[in-house]
Amino acid sequence: MKRILITGVTGLIGRSLAHALRRRGDEVWGLSRSADGAESQIRRWDPTAEVLDPDSVSGFDVVVHLAGENIGDGRWTRAKKERIKHSRIHGTRILSEALARAPAKPRLLVAGSAVGYYGNRGSELLSESSAPGTGFLAEVVIGWEDAVAAARDAEIPVATLRTGPVLSTKGGALAKMLPPFRIGLGGVVGSGRQYMSWIALGDVVGACAHVIDGEISGVVNVVAPNPVTNEEFTRALGRTIRRPTIIPLPAVAARAVLGEMADELLLVSQRVSSARLEQSGFQFELPTVQEALAHLLATQE
Ligand SMILES: NC(=O)c1ccc[n+]([C@@H]2O[C@H](COP(=O)([O-])OP(=O)(O)OC[C@H]3O[C@@H](n4cnc5c(N)ncnc54)[C@H](OP(=O)(O)O)[C@@H]3O)[C@@H](O)[C@H]2O)c1
Repeated sequence: MKRILITGVTGLIGRSLAHALRRRGDEVWGLSRSADGAESQIRRWDPTAEVLDPDSVSGFDVVVHLAGENIGDGRWTRAKKERIKHSRIHGTRILSEALARAPAKPRLLVAGSAVGYYGNRGSELLSESSAPGTGFLAEVVIGWEDAVAAARDAEIPVATLRTGPVLSTKGGALAKMLPPFRIGLGGVVGSGRQYMSWIALGDVVGACAHVIDGEISGVVNVVAPNPVTNEEFTRALGRTIRRPTIIPLPAVAARAVLGEMADELLLVSQRVSSARLEQSGFQFELPTVQEALAHLLATQE
């Protein structure tokens, strides 16, 4: 039984992770801006404050940091982009500084990160040692990963989970695609050749638990072993819900509707390798997109 603190515990990943860890007997606490006292084992924090009290994060075996402004909800106005960046870089910095000064430090900090680190890379197979990319999200992720410096300097091992788009019917990219696809308005975006390094929600949760149990540190790509092109994903989703996928969304139209988000989230190509995660002994429950979509839609997970 471990004592685990999770930030972003009310989010898509955090909620499922907390549930899975509690179910197997861990003592899970959340560090949250928004959850109220109705939820048990919640501590409050203000990720925009200058500092975080070290006592509030002291005495945990593992801290999992998932908090950050959602990147897929709402238009990327200047203010939204600033929140995306500041919530991750500043929030991670004050958490790391508090952990470094905590009377009882954790044995592992599991720091959320994203494949956005790699930028737009065509069909290049990207490993944890690949160079970072360029663009807004790449800049955010580089700063986010660097913001754990205080924890690392205090010799707290850090696992950086470079996660790909998480597939779930409860939130994220798939939940947004389902309504138009269900009424037959789905189709390929842009050329359809851009790679998506997806992962199913249950496997993200499993990978986090695997990293916690193995006390694995360093950067780990948290993506399924079979990235797909947008065209392959589109066809697989159409087959799963038995709908045609003949209405393409050209890149110009995507840019007109979504602005910069189109290039950074829909047209971006990232073909990311899961080799390190697999070599560490992790076994995916849903390794192919067809299996993942069938499972997620059947279970509404
Ligand atoms: N879902 C994906 O496809 C995906 C892919 C790659 C990486 N990630 C990363 O993994 C982490 C968790 O993802 P998720 O999908 O579970 O995220 P999510 O559903 O958007 O939840 C993130 C949580 O962070 C907290 N939060 C929201 N806005 C914030 C802000 N402005 N400042 C500080 N905290 C804020 C909230 O928790 P409280 O209100 O309880 O504090 C929220 O529940 C995120 O950092 C995300 O970037 C996600």
